[in-house]
Amino acid sequence: MVKKKAKLKLKNNVRKPLVICSVVILIIIIILLFYFNRIGELKSLGYSEDSAKSIIFKFKYSYIMDIGENKTLNKAFESDDYIKENLDSYAKIDYQNQKHLISNINKLLDKGYSVNEINLIISRGDDKSVSDFVKRDKVKYIEEFLAVDFAKLENLDRYVLYQEKENDDAKTTVLYVNMDFDKEDYIDPLVIDDFDDYVLVNKHRQLSSKYIPDDLVKIKDEYVKTDGEIEIERNVAKAFYDMAEAAKDDGMELMVSSGYRSYKDQEEITNTYLELYGQKYVDNYVAKPGFSEHQTAMSLDVASKSVDTFVNSDEYVWMMDNAYKYGFILRYPKSKEDITGYKCEAWHYRYVGKKIAKYIKEHNITYDEYYVMFLDD
Ligand code: DAL
Ligand code: ZN
Repeated sequence: MVKKKAKLKLKNNVRKPLVICSVVILIIIIILLFYFNRIGELKSLGYSEDSAKSIIFKFKYSYIMDIGENKTLNKAFESDDYIKENLDSYAKIDYQNQKHLISNINKLLDKGYSVNEINLIISRGDDKSVSDFVKRDKVKYIEEFLAVDFAKLENLDRYVLYQEKENDDAKTTVLYVNMDFDKEDYIDPLVIDDFDDYVLVNKHRQLSSKYIPDDLVKIKDEYVKTDGEIEIERNVAKAFYDMAEAAKDDGMELMVSSGYRSYKDQEEITNTYLELYGQKYVDNYVAKPGFSEHQTAMSLDVASKSVDTFVNSDEYVWMMDNAYKYGFILRYPKSKEDITGYKCEAWHYRYVGKKIAKYIKEHNITYDEYYVMFLDD
């Protein structure tokens, strides 16, 4: 009898911890299932694994589920710079792919910028310019210039100075400063290191003396007006042939008198014209070496087979009406001399593709303006 009692007691001693243990394990399993389920839900909303964990451990799961997908919040929860008090602001700020995004937002909030202002600041700058900007005292009148959608944060002070001088409206000020109108021609130019078919070359944007386009082809002899060969970029040649064929159907005979010119060619041309006609002529009609669009091989000087002065030819009129349909624009028009920096060149056409050429024609703007408004980043 005594033996049986002892056995029962032993059983109870084992059973109790076993039950507790099972309950604890069950609770852990439920918590883990719950946890992984929530991680899954957050990930399906676009949050990263790290961000999802951080959201759960900061007890912000319900907050995030109410908001849904938000790249800035994702970045904030991934970041060591996350500040609880700034959470509602993070949620209202448009995401930008910038390394110091969250720490810069914190600093801007700290300086008293509104969410709207921060959205403008970070969308008009890159990581470097925003990181520089946050070191400054609070700047007034952010919205006046940065509301222009092609404004650049790093140019903000130049906008203010230029407007004080010229008194233009904000959009014109941004446009002109982005075109470097506050700088002298050829002084402190941007050296182009990232070449593509849309490259803009003018008196403020220079190509290296070593730059040679990599897909040059010779223009067919029948279209060459001068002695010797003329080279041009392959797609420009194709577009020119299409255009010349169409012109032929209208009784026009289009030819080419200049295409790709190397840095050295341009140097020789500049020196020749300088000797013949002097500095003023060169400033008006000839680009300095490195500053000529001809070095891009995307431009050509169009000629008429029968009439030597192009502006007196039917081909000139035909080009004015039709060139854009084949992707070409008159690069230096009469009405835009102040913008291009060159006197009108009735013969100089630039290939930009049909879509851009149509826009430029319809809106009566130059490529310099188009580039600053739509292509410059
Ligand atoms: N005539 C143009 C401006 C050039 O020299 O490139
Ligand atoms: Zn030309």
